[in-house]
Amino acid sequence: MLNIAVLVSGGGTNLQALIDAQNRSEIPGGRIAVVISSKADAYALERAKKAGIPTETLIRKEYSSQEEYDAALLQILDCYQIGLIVLAGFMTIISDNVIRHYENKIINVHPSLIPSFCGEGFYGLRVHRAVLEKGVKLTGATVHFVNEVCDGGPIILQKAVEVLEGDTPEILQRRVMEQAEWKLLPKAVALFCEGKITVHNGKTKIREDSI
Ligand code: GAR
Repeated sequence: MLNIAVLVSGGGTNLQALIDAQNRSEIPGGRIAVVISSKADAYALERAKKAGIPTETLIRKEYSSQEEYDAALLQILDCYQIGLIVLAGFMTIISDNVIRHYENKIINVHPSLIPSFCGEGFYGLRVHRAVLEKGVKLTGATVHFVNEVCDGGPIILQKAVEVLEGDTPEILQRRVMEQAEWKLLPKAVALFCEGKITVHNGKTKIREDSI
């Protein structure tokens, strides 16, 4: 059984999707061992507590250097013997140092079809605002491994979602979550925990019997 750490900063609806999937026994190879928040008042922490999952709060500003922050994060991950880190709306940059410790063991969910509308400055509602400004007709979500390039790691799963007339960033965000993120993230986590995802030359391969 793989120990999973879910890193959050906000509402935690993706965390909730993972908790619900776990309760339906859809992640047989793993279990959420800890939820780590970058904000003390993140609603995601309430969701974790309700589900009986241990929580930790790690605020970047409370550490005087990146090294000290990294050491604190690595210590928590070590303490819970974490084998998979899931970034579920985590808004603090993960340093190269931590990424190297967990190569191809950190998964992120991004609310667009990478490589569109991603990279520095593209997070949360800003992504959906940019999508509407551009006028694209299709958007979606991507689950990918995290490497040293922002939103540039190997892609695991993607799903397209329609942009509709009259969409606001909030309406579009909700549709992308409902139709894509909340389905893709638990699925990718389950596949990882069952050892069904491999990475070669920066691309993933998913064992066929699983999809
Ligand atoms: C989600 O839409 C997630 O894709 C996005 O933040 C939201 C968090 O919502 N992440 C990014 O933009 C990362 N670049 P949640 O707290 O309700 O899961």
